[in-house]
Amino acid sequence: MEQFPQLPPQQFLPRHIGIIMDGNGRWAKQRGLPRSVGHKAGAETFRKIATFCRDIGIPYLTAYAFSTENWKRPQEEVDAIMDLLREYLDDTAKHQGEDVRTCFIGDREPLAADLREKIRRVEEESAHNRTITVNIALNYGGRDELVHAARRLAREAAAGRLDPESIDEKMVSNALYTAGQPDPDVIIRPSGEKRLSNFLTWQSAYAEFVFLDVLWPDFDQNHLCSALWEYARRDRRFGGI
Ligand code: FPP
Repeated sequence: MEQFPQLPPQQFLPRHIGIIMDGNGRWAKQRGLPRSVGHKAGAETFRKIATFCRDIGIPYLTAYAFSTENWKRPQEEVDAIMDLLREYLDDTAKHQGEDVRTCFIGDREPLAADLREKIRRVEEESAHNRTITVNIALNYGGRDELVHAARRLAREAAAGRLDPESIDEKMVSNALYTAGQPDPDVIIRPSGEKRLSNFLTWQSAYAEFVFLDVLWPDFDQNHLCSALWEYARRDRRFGGI
């Protein structure tokens, strides 16, 4: 049986973890391998970390798989990432007994029709699962999400169903892809980069950030635990004292 590191006490664990899965390309480059191999290793890491989060009682996990800016990458790399997502969805469909609710956040419109259909099916079939909600951010951008939310609210107002003066923070939150879910408590970014890169822009207003010097394919349960300890030690005041 695998030995897991010591975790902070349950009451100090976050309810929602966001992860920016960064460093796949560098990991592959260091080994003289194509970038797609780095993404494949990254997808494996994601499976392990999502399972670990479920096992330790984290109710929400959101992982950044593909941003609205990632279309600028070579077609071959984009195709490789989309194929990994197809594989992940096919696997997930076979593992419904694991009680994972899978959701996708982001604009689905530009995705291939078969991928959209796989997403629809997995979301529908896992909707009743409760132990953990795993959000995969795909063609996701925090600003793009806010643009879509603004349009949605504006349409309601233009149709006379919404008084613009009644729009509050809750209403904006409920117009986002993450409607009904708690905001992330902590956002973890491996690979040494220290930026948010358009991830959960609105939702991260009070998130703690933990940056680690490990490339995502090498990220394991020990790295997650050290991030959780760092989070547990932070004093979160939410603007108070
Ligand atoms: C960032 O690293 C990573 C991505 C843009 C892709 C992440 C995708 C996966 C891990 C695979 C699909 C996901 C699932 C959930 C099956 P990078 O390529 O920018 O790394 P670099 O900065 O070292 O080049």
